[in-house]
Amino acid sequence: MLPNVKRYLVTSALPYANGPIHIGHLVEYIQTDIWVRFKKLMGNDVVYICADDTHGTPIMLKAEKEGLDPEELINKVWKEHTSDFAAFSVDFDNYYSTHSEENRELSELIYKNLKKEGLISVKSIEQMFDEEKKMFLPDRFILGECPLCNSSDQYGDSCESCGATYTPTDLINPRSAVSGNTPIKKFSEHHFFNLSDEKCGSFLKQWTKFPSRLQPEVKNKIDEWLNDDDGKSKLSDWDISRDSPYFGFKIPDTEDKFFYVWLDAPVGYYASLLNWCSKTGKNFLDFTQPDSEIEQIHFIGKDILYFHSLFWPAMLHFAGFRTPTAIYAHGFLTINGQKMSKSRGTFITAKEFLSSKINPEFLRYYLASKLNGSTEDLDLNFSEFSQKINSELVGKYINILSRCSGFLMNIFNGNLIPTNELKMDCESAKQLEFAFENKHSLILDCYNKRNTNRAIREIIDLTDNVNSFIQNKKPWDLAKQISETNKMHLKVQLHLILSLAINYFAKLTILLKPIVPITCKVIEEEIFSLEEPWDMLDYDRLCIGKIRGFKHMLSRIKPEDLETLMKKR
Ligand code: 2FM
Ligand code: ZN
Repeated sequence: MLPNVKRYLVTSALPYANGPIHIGHLVEYIQTDIWVRFKKLMGNDVVYICADDTHGTPIMLKAEKEGLDPEELINKVWKEHTSDFAAFSVDFDNYYSTHSEENRELSELIYKNLKKEGLISVKSIEQMFDEEKKMFLPDRFILGECPLCNSSDQYGDSCESCGATYTPTDLINPRSAVSGNTPIKKFSEHHFFNLSDEKCGSFLKQWTKFPSRLQPEVKNKIDEWLNDDDGKSKLSDWDISRDSPYFGFKIPDTEDKFFYVWLDAPVGYYASLLNWCSKTGKNFLDFTQPDSEIEQIHFIGKDILYFHSLFWPAMLHFAGFRTPTAIYAHGFLTINGQKMSKSRGTFITAKEFLSSKINPEFLRYYLASKLNGSTEDLDLNFSEFSQKINSELVGKYINILSRCSGFLMNIFNGNLIPTNELKMDCESAKQLEFAFENKHSLILDCYNKRNTNRAIREIIDLTDNVNSFIQNKKPWDLAKQISETNKMHLKVQLHLILSLAINYFAKLTILLKPIVPITCKVIEEEIFSLEEPWDMLDYDRLCIGKIRGFKHMLSRIKPEDLETLMKKR
């Protein structure tokens, strides 16, 4: 099968630089990394871009609390994030920061182009102001009683107790979460991106209609956001400025107004791309001009759809750039059926997972087995986690190698029958060959559609077939008879069985590479002594001469490993 070689710019959402990476985050980075690895293994030209999202009030206040400059905080967090991603084999081509000159220039350029298009306006709005800290307060930094149910200590935008949404000025007895004082109401001028302009609405209606750009359930949601009952656009203008003090980029031609963090965050995708282009000598415009043929794919969580399927494409389009090809949203992670929670001990950071000694690839495998390309939430259930890893990855997949390699080493010195002579004239061998041929394109299609749940089910099905073949052929009986009689035809028979099983093990390894790349690399290098790693095309043209023997590479998850992970923190 010849691949249809394409070029892609792929991104995952930029994590905030004010906290650690946790396993909820990892869903997305692992999902994207698997897809990117798959596309690369199919021979495509893919660049995988990300960065830390570094601006905004929470980061400014966190730095102040830690006695650091914001720059010091974001540098420290950048190092932590990149080391966590590396430990889970999330292999970005570039991991940058939104606090960069590239991002400042691109954000200013986009803003100026939108202004030229007549899409920026300035309006005076009233907001809560902390007189002691001399700052306007974001909704999340105002606490008070819910105007509907009177619950205390609710945030300025919504009530966690009754679910009501409102504006901070509606809160009863509001107080600043920064100083504890009662805030006052104060007017200030804000800059808006005029999304209510008819041309934005009609552009977005066209853009969101494009087939396979948005998942069906996402498209429905966006249609609700876009159209009122008369089919008119119901988008409101978007406030893209914040007052000083603010950690971010100053808006051109203003004294003390800053871009709201959500303005420069998606631009950070392009800033990281531009930084990568300068390092690699690639042409940024090839990726970003309106007629670019490179696909631009954004992986995100469903909570930030509004920004990615409305604001971002409109910003790009009216500023003269190309727009995203597709947005792939995923659902939220729950742990043992419940929201991640610090008090229940289920808020697990990447670092905590790593310190549990459970192989990080096991989390990749498990999450992949739960992801199906939709926006449904997914649950990490610890007993299912260890059961799946122990029975599928260790008990079925690695088992093929451990069942065959001893006989191959002892009796045949590790040599395999060459692929072109590898034919067994029996029904079970034919069935096996048929299954591996038959399922191949289905599995590739599942990867393509991010349905790794189905891909894994099919791969494990093939693994079961190989194990049944071995069970059926009983190489241990043949080996025993050979040691007693040394009959040549039995030796040939055994050699064929083992060589076939190992070839199928190699095909399974190729199929699993996007999901468990390190395990597969160890197998390629230390079992098969490959000089070049396999790609997806090697599936049909494997040519294995020899194996080096068995190496213990994956240990089962033990109950105490899970206890360490779950213990209350
Ligand atoms: O929701 C978040 O965590 C944001 N930091 C995501 C930003 S994605 C992009 F737009 F930069
Ligand atoms: Zn309430």
